Amino acid sequence: MKFFADTAEISEIRELAATGLLDGVTTNPSLIHKSGRNFLDVVKEIASVVSGPVSAEVVALDYDGMMREAAVLRKIADHIAIKVPLTPAGLKACKALSGDGTMVNVTLCFSSAQALLAAKAGATFISPFIGRLDDISSDGMQLIADIRLIYDNYDYGTQILAASIRHPMHIVDSAKLGADVVTAPPKIIWQLFKHPLTDLGIASFLKDWEATGQKIV
Ligand code: G3P
Repeated sequence: MKFFADTAEISEIRELAATGLLDGVTTNPSLIHKSGRNFLDVVKEIASVVSGPVSAEVVALDYDGMMREAAVLRKIADHIAIKVPLTPAGLKACKALSGDGTMVNVTLCFSSAQALLAAKAGATFISPFIGRLDDISSDGMQLIADIRLIYDNYDYGTQILAASIRHPMHIVDSAKLGADVVTAPPKIIWQLFKHPLTDLGIASFLKDWEATGQKIV
């Protein structure tokens, strides 16, 4: 499973990249707003730190506007994935961009019907929003399972990118169901490392080691 960081905070991205476990980054207009930085500058900087896909989202709602914005964004680096919304115009842009060899992340997916359309439009990634579905008492994880089934039925190459992640079990459950990628806030990725028995085990090993009076170097 690939891990993407869902953030526009460069310090968080650098910290995660240093683990060697980070495969890409996703941003959206809200995360750019939160960063307080210029969109193009921040995407450029992220792309210089991470060699995997970096998603940058268009904000135009019409096809021509999306294509104009995508032309600017794709010039930043070859590993920019253009993020388009799951609308007729977004999927038209998806088809044109992916036909041209540009990676496309189709975002704001809330149903398997939408995911089927995105695969037909040649999306590189489909982003089902798990947390936002759970927030309205719907079953986000079931959507991952349904998309996996549909994509496998037809051998669609579109990668399932589980998004809107709220806690570590969303990541684990997405992995169990065969999502190809997960994008999560860095804080949640760091939580994956945590287990109280690991901390306790280290403490007791160190105590016993000190009692030996030895040193490795
Ligand atoms: O980047 C898309 C998605 O991950 C947003 O998550 O937490 O705003 O629902 P959230």
